[in-house]
Amino acid sequence: MTYFVTGGAGFIGSHLVDTLLARGATVVAYDNFNDYYDPARKRRNIAAALTHANFTLIEGDIRDRGALDAAFLQHRPTHIAHLGAMAGPRYSVAHPFLYEEVNVRATMHILDLARLYAVQGMIVASTSSVYGALPTPWDESQSADTPLSPYAATKRAAELLAYTYHYQYGVPTRVLRFFTVYGPRGRPDMTPSLFVDSMLAGKPITLFNGGMGVYRDWTYVADIIAGIVAALHTDVAFGTFNLGNSSPVELISFVRMLEAITGYAAIIEDKPLPAADPPRTFANISRAQALLGFQPQTSLDVGLSAFWKWYRSEYDI
Ligand SMILES: NC(=O)c1ccc[n+]([C@@H]2O[C@H](COP(=O)([O-])OP(=O)(O)OC[C@H]3O[C@@H](n4cnc5c(N)ncnc54)[C@H](O)[C@@H]3O)[C@@H](O)[C@H]2O)c1
Repeated sequence: MTYFVTGGAGFIGSHLVDTLLARGATVVAYDNFNDYYDPARKRRNIAAALTHANFTLIEGDIRDRGALDAAFLQHRPTHIAHLGAMAGPRYSVAHPFLYEEVNVRATMHILDLARLYAVQGMIVASTSSVYGALPTPWDESQSADTPLSPYAATKRAAELLAYTYHYQYGVPTRVLRFFTVYGPRGRPDMTPSLFVDSMLAGKPITLFNGGMGVYRDWTYVADIIAGIVAALHTDVAFGTFNLGNSSPVELISFVRMLEAITGYAAIIEDKPLPAADPPRTFANISRAQALLGFQPQTSLDVGLSAFWKWYRSEYDI
């Protein structure tokens, strides 16, 4: 089996690459190493995979259909994990057209190639952000038609296209809504890295509403990878699945846990919650539990300790 992982050098993608290689698969990672964050980080993410005989790295853009065609012709993937995307919700507010190009149009190219090569299984990465500010806990039967940011809207559009490609062309697509993923190799624009950066530098961290009443359903990256692997191989021809921890933590408790683990104190600066951020994320994961056997294993303190261990080696602390 040959797995084509778009965004394979990113945070989640590189973990998936490592897991698939460890299972004996042939893996092709396709990534454009854009500078949304330091591309050198992405190169470190896949450094170990590059030593593996079953691994191929293609540096290319998913907006470039010619490059994608050539990659598919050469490698003929049996499975696709489409993780490549512009991923930051706040950045999308200032760059909506970029998000449309990468998250919608390019996703159509990947779906189209899945159709042409009759792949056996495909996942499309989506996000809890599609739920906007709907009442929690969120389950997949909710309407998800009031996204708060261009990022969330483009991911929702990609979800709808995934359904259409299943309905019209029989592409076996599973849409996975990830909930605030964290862990080793975590993106530098996400809360765990931003907070630890500031705590180490003695700078204030921005805590929306003082961290009170703001909840996030932190999901450890290894648990997400287990969900992706299950979804790639399920018999469910089309499905939309929440992959979350189903255990939201108030932001102030998150900060206190981070202080305890790192031994550094946080200086808290209070700001109002940005309009692109919902006050609470909370996954109902019954469907993924029932159909994918998904069961998150990692508590926040264990996962944050693993993140901190990685952060120390990454930044030589
Ligand atoms: N990390 C989270 O908490 C989270 C939550 C919900 C959804 N997601 C989704 O999961 C997926 C992976 O996210 P991540 O956190 O690993 O982000 P990431 O930015 O680390 O990974 C995305 C990768 O895609 C690549 N990429 C971006 N545009 C590309 C293009 N035009 N052509 C080729 N490659 C391109 C980037 O270089 C990067 O390596 C994304 O689809 C994201 O929207 C992530």
